[in-house]
Amino acid sequence: MTFARRIFSGVQPTGNLHLGNYLGAIRNWVRLQPDFECVFCVVDLHAITLWQDPAELTKHTREVAACLIAAGIDPKQSILFNQSRNPNHAELAWVLNCVARMGWLNRMTQFKDKAGKDRENASVGLFAYPNLMAADILVYHATHVPVGEDQKQHLELARDIAQKFNNDFGQAFFPLPEPQILGTATRVMSLRDGTKKMSKSDASDASRINLTDDADQIAQKVRRAKTDPLPMPDSVEDAEKRPEADNLIGIYAALADRTPDEVVAEFAGRQFSEFKTALTDVAVAHLSPITAEMRRLLADPAQIDAVLKDGGERACALSQPIMARTKELVGFLNN
Ligand code: TYM
Repeated sequence: MTFARRIFSGVQPTGNLHLGNYLGAIRNWVRLQPDFECVFCVVDLHAITLWQDPAELTKHTREVAACLIAAGIDPKQSILFNQSRNPNHAELAWVLNCVARMGWLNRMTQFKDKAGKDRENASVGLFAYPNLMAADILVYHATHVPVGEDQKQHLELARDIAQKFNNDFGQAFFPLPEPQILGTATRVMSLRDGTKKMSKSDASDASRINLTDDADQIAQKVRRAKTDPLPMPDSVEDAEKRPEADNLIGIYAALADRTPDEVVAEFAGRQFSEFKTALTDVAVAHLSPITAEMRRLLADPAQIDAVLKDGGERACALSQPIMARTKELVGFLNN
């Protein structure tokens, strides 16, 4: 079977999007958009694997959608919708719950991180999360999945699930999706601790640059970003041994579209304060048009809802025949 080149990717509406989401995923989505048929999803079903206040969930769903459009996702060209509008995700996820093995899910590091010490109290949804993620991708027969580094293990699992389904039901029905982990900032780290991933769930807002931050907030966070006492590294090898320096250099390189080598060459031996001023300038120049456009879009929530509704209808139409064929393969009577 040959498959069309099709992208699926998603982002959770659990808070403000940050620079890690942008550089690790969203910017790549925008860049890939002209060359692929794309389905981009605000994954509200995934969000509720951890408790979400209902009003906040609705608000964040609109904010994330506005942010994606402001960053350059064109909802006419690509499909943009919130996941719960298409019941096929949850329906296929159930079938995949019965394909994936407990042992496979037990190895997922994100579950261990998110469940923490009190595993008995984690939702069943949090454990089965990677199966829903596999369903998101497979229900569209997506072939490519642009994500940040932290999603790699989940995508390997999605490939294993697709392969097992194909073996169990004797047909190369699902494509094995390819992860696309692109660019120089595939794992953006916290500004307060260069060994921890930048994350929406970090208690410290100073640990991340949100796509809603204004120029003053960005400047303040970059100024306060943790560094070591030495001047700027004079080689990439030196930078790699210094997590905070390495992270800031990676962020600068990604935002300025330069290589880490070029950035190191320019700032070698200089004070961090000078570098941080340059980093603030490039971050503000890059992010402030997105923030402004996002605010403009959020002034008209009905328009955002209409975009998501239209995207949801197109998503349903695309997945419906694939879901119907899945049911046939499994042997469900459906006539
Ligand atoms: P989420 O919402 O945590 O993150 C959305 C995207 O941003 C990337 N990302 C990062 N990249 C670099 N550095 C960081 N610090 C950083 N933090 C986040 C993530 O890798 C992701 O690409 N499970 C997914 C959402 C999802 C999905 C899918 C993705 C659900 N179904 C199907 C792909 C395909 C998640 O929680 O992403």
